[in-house]
Amino acid sequence: MSRINIKGNVMSEATAAPPCLLVILGAAGDLTRRKLMPTLYAMHRAGHLPAAFVILGMARSEMDDAAFRAAMRSACDSFGAATTDAEWPTFAQRLHYQPGNFNDDSAWQTMAARIAELDAQHDTGGNRMFFLATLPSLYAAIAAQLGATGLVYSHPDEDGPFSRVLIEKPFGHDLASAQTLNRSLHEVFREEQIFRIDHYLAKETVQNILVLRFANAVFEPLWNRQHIDHVQISAAEHIGVGSRGAYYEESGVLRDMVQNHLLQLLALVAMEPPLNFTANRVRDRKVDVFRALRPLIGEDAYRDVVLGQYAAAADGSVPGYLLETGVAADSVTPTFAALKVQVDNWRWQGVPFYLRTGKRLAKGCAEVVVQFRSIPFCVFGGDPACARIAPNRLVLSIQPDESVHLEFATKTPGHGLAVETARMQFDFHDRYPDAPSPYQRLLLEALRGEQLLFARSDGVEMSWRFITPILEAYADHPGAEPYAYPAGSEGPVAADTLIARDMHAWQALGGCRLKTERKK
Ligand code: BG6
Repeated sequence: MSRINIKGNVMSEATAAPPCLLVILGAAGDLTRRKLMPTLYAMHRAGHLPAAFVILGMARSEMDDAAFRAAMRSACDSFGAATTDAEWPTFAQRLHYQPGNFNDDSAWQTMAARIAELDAQHDTGGNRMFFLATLPSLYAAIAAQLGATGLVYSHPDEDGPFSRVLIEKPFGHDLASAQTLNRSLHEVFREEQIFRIDHYLAKETVQNILVLRFANAVFEPLWNRQHIDHVQISAAEHIGVGSRGAYYEESGVLRDMVQNHLLQLLALVAMEPPLNFTANRVRDRKVDVFRALRPLIGEDAYRDVVLGQYAAAADGSVPGYLLETGVAADSVTPTFAALKVQVDNWRWQGVPFYLRTGKRLAKGCAEVVVQFRSIPFCVFGGDPACARIAPNRLVLSIQPDESVHLEFATKTPGHGLAVETARMQFDFHDRYPDAPSPYQRLLLEALRGEQLLFARSDGVEMSWRFITPILEAYADHPGAEPYAYPAGSEGPVAADTLIARDMHAWQALGGCRLKTERKK
């Protein structure tokens, strides 16, 4: 964040980035084509990649460098900004490919030789990052192969070139499998070498939660049970599961969004001040929050968690989840979750955190709403003025708007005393239109060896410790099937009941704009 200067321009991102060879394992797959390669190309165009930065793809498909480059160009054209004849050739020079089967020891030997050759040719200083763009079920085996082939350095980064691994969620599918995966990774990599991606952490407004809290004197004194009534964290999506039905069937909303993105947001809102802004000190405090989550086991899970699954839109314009490709006709996989979560510690005792996320909702938006307590007494002589005083709310909008606004009461101009709610708003996009995308940010931070935006093993395990009993409560439990909600609605009515029980209401999704409606 300190890389943003006071005029709001993002400083050159490449300046501090060391040379490196990025090895993409699974280079012929969807993640590489849709996300990774377009991001790398955008970084190249923006001058964010160091000069000595080469990319070596590995996958089973037989291709040479030229064919790989052509495939990656068409991937960038389809999923990112269109390539240009002026800029593509310099980027293509960075791209290389080595076919190989991950199970084949000899392929790894060939790979090691190719890595050494590219290191030498491009002066990467032996620095390397391995991006596992494969099925998560292959992570452990690939890590073992990297170790066995001698591609991972055991010395600390300060003592020589670095070797790092980047992986995407899911990091396991429950507590036990997350622990197993961590153990396998730790057999080869030190924790400092492992970069677990949670792209929500790299959204600027998410990072800004900490700056807002800890770089301002006005908020933190109020940031506790004395002054905050409750917190709402929503990540609503307008889209459905699209082409990811098969993945989603295995995952469902609790694993896909709550265990990672929503709990990370909760941790940033609820954590104590870190000793300093280094990765481990910040992550220590986040893990404290995960430890303090009141478990939702058995009946408590039925009481405080509402699951839903989208049905067809009321006007029939959108099919229900059960008709999506790759989805079982009788699937009970939830696509929506609303939870009431309690953080059992001194600061937050009695302050509910309501979490809500789902697909095919009325709008696509993510935000944190911090609602302060009501005024203790109204001095304005009764209604109508007093009745119109709403509690103050601080709203941190993550997307599609990237903004912070504070709602407060003001006097309506004119005779008599009428009160209404006004907003003070700060819009990030207006001030910083060229900020790098979350994915660019993550790749650069990994290149720099900065782990603040990545999940640490204990945090991952603690968040699974909270989610696993909920999954168990709902697994194959007759009567605990998700509630159907029409595509395009605000979710199942039961989610409204969950929050209404405490005399609260969800912030209307109608307040968010659709992504496509973003003002320029
Ligand atoms: C991903 C989930 O992690 O986050 C997707 O797997 C979801 O299902 C996506 O759509 C949401 O991310 P964003 O940045 O669009 O809110």
